[in-house]
Amino acid sequence: DRPTAGAGRVIPAELLEHGGGCPFDPAPGLSGRRGQGPVQPFELLNGAQAWLVTGFEEAREVLADLRFSSDQVRHRNATQMSAEEVAERAAAAGRGEPVCPVPVESRDDGMFVGMDPPEHTRLRRLLTGQFTVRRMKALESRITEIAVEHIEAMKAAGTEADLVPAYALPLPSLVICELLGVDYADRARFQENTAVALNLRSSEDARARAAGELYRFIGELVAVKRKDPGDDILSGLIHEADPPLTDNQLVDVSLVLLGAGHETTANMLALGTFALLENPEQLAALRADPGLIDNAVEELLRYLSIVQLGVTRVATEDVTVGGVRIAAGSTVVIATPEVNRDDRQWPAPDRLDVRRDRSPHLAFGHGVHQCLGQQLARIEMRVGFTELITRLPDLRLTESGESVPLRNDMLIFGVHALPVGWA
Ligand code: HEM
Repeated sequence: DRPTAGAGRVIPAELLEHGGGCPFDPAPGLSGRRGQGPVQPFELLNGAQAWLVTGFEEAREVLADLRFSSDQVRHRNATQMSAEEVAERAAAAGRGEPVCPVPVESRDDGMFVGMDPPEHTRLRRLLTGQFTVRRMKALESRITEIAVEHIEAMKAAGTEADLVPAYALPLPSLVICELLGVDYADRARFQENTAVALNLRSSEDARARAAGELYRFIGELVAVKRKDPGDDILSGLIHEADPPLTDNQLVDVSLVLLGAGHETTANMLALGTFALLENPEQLAALRADPGLIDNAVEELLRYLSIVQLGVTRVATEDVTVGGVRIAAGSTVVIATPEVNRDDRQWPAPDRLDVRRDRSPHLAFGHGVHQCLGQQLARIEMRVGFTELITRLPDLRLTESGESVPLRNDMLIFGVHALPVGWA
């Protein structure tokens, strides 16, 4: 009964498809709902009634309120249900919204992104204890080495490349390897299976096989680190947790880190580069003043909001938000691309402006589940963009922007490929 990352299957396509418009703006199906208020009813593909939160303050309110649960095993979210199950539950409850199931008493896994306090709190604390300033500082120089190596390899191979496999994907992937303590020799196996498991274009069979391989791989890694600890997060979790974590928990925690830290940064790097190339005056401003990079990273996070509709909760009680009563059992979907363009929060929110004053955005979420890897992601982006635009000063798209394949079919937005060239 492990929760699956299945929300994408029940989100209506028009809320995710960018069509022929600006690829960096929220999907027209989302932005077209502006004016319907900060908390709007909508219907999932399985027939369940859900709530879409598009207002910044309202989204913060939901994410700070523990009556909205992330625990999709205890409070099974409607995004995880089949149409039959939705109909059955709704009929039993006498209304369109399915009610929360009876709480399950105990769990023994480490998928903490889908847990509530207090179980979530313990695992989260153990992990924040591993994401130390010292470790992140040490990683920064490794991230720079990795970035430079990949750019130099691109240059040595010619004057054109697809930036996704050549740069955007390997960078966060190798960083996760360092973090978890994956041996250099095993990286190919690790990366191959990760690429297949996380690519929704792989067949179901191939994905299941790759996920199985990864599970086995991480299981073996846990066994190695039990005997022979290194200076990595997995060793830290094995040897510093009291009471100790089970093998299952350790594998799950590793898989959460892998899934959460891989596709997100990779898509920010590729889509962010695309956005800068399509906004040459912004790229020129950044080249002219490299000190703007931290601002540019925050602005790209806000402007692109790649986790689209991936942050969901379920109400465990009736709660009123933005004047709307959300009944216990309802699924609430945070519409991050809209939330981060709330004009009550930012002037001219639809404009990319790397000089914009920094202010809080929700690209990393908010509340107890706020992105654990955000400092790392910021370093990866700061280094990743800086090295790319300084080492390839004449970087350009080799095809028209309209022909770049967008990840329209996925909760985490980005590009499938980014054809670039340099002189
Ligand atoms: C959680 C976004 C990079 C690890 C989250 C959440 C968001 C997010 C929106 C909240 C999920 C929720 O509330 O349900 C991003 C973005 C990234 C990024 C946009 C890149 C630009 C990373 C990296 C790592 C990471 C590099 C680590 C290796 C995590 C973890 C959680 C999380 C472990 C779950 C935290 C918890 O449940 O307590 N991320 N993330 N993320 N992220 Fe990130």
